[in-house]
Amino acid sequence: MTQTPNTDFGITDLWPTRILHRRVPDCERWNKDLIKLVRDLDRANKNLTTDYLAPDLFNMDQPAVNWLRENVNATVIEYLRNIGIDYPVNWTITGWPNVNRFGDYHDPHNHPWSYLSGTYYVKMPATRETLQSRSDVRPGCITFYDPRQGVNMMAIKNDPYVEPEHTVLPEPGLMLLWPALVNHFVHPNLSKETRISISFNIVLKWSDDYLPEQI
Ligand SMILES: [Fe+2]
Repeated sequence: MTQTPNTDFGITDLWPTRILHRRVPDCERWNKDLIKLVRDLDRANKNLTTDYLAPDLFNMDQPAVNWLRENVNATVIEYLRNIGIDYPVNWTITGWPNVNRFGDYHDPHNHPWSYLSGTYYVKMPATRETLQSRSDVRPGCITFYDPRQGVNMMAIKNDPYVEPEHTVLPEPGLMLLWPALVNHFVHPNLSKETRISISFNIVLKWSDDYLPEQI
């Protein structure tokens, strides 16, 4: 896009990576139901977390799933509004539970063929095993990596590109939503308590109305 600056001075803030966080209200009661549901599914399928052909969680007609689906949709609407999309958009949600036991982690990855990706945190460990670990481990956290590979290489103190990563320690009831292209890593769980989350992809139902104006 071509622009002619109309002020004598300005900063153009280009190519941001927008990651939404939202504490979902009234989550305690529903989290109990979701924990029970995920545990039941986990008992029925020992590869639940890694079996991407397992039945989609969001296809289930259960009160807790319906509550979560409504909150995912509300969060997507909020995200789209905040990035400036002011016209109707339709999507489908696909989702799956993650049960991380002691030592479990999820290596860096992104979510192909999706527009947005997100995670809702159902249960986080409150304890941690005493281990002779490095002092910089961040058990149970999720780290997002700057998709613009290497922009931190020449960053000097206080410029906005120093950090090539963004790390969050989730709490139960937190929902995160980000562009599906962003690589992320789930740090090892160092607790004997399980860490339970539900991840999802937002896949657009295509419409030619989404095409940007070409200049
Ligand atoms: Fe992921």
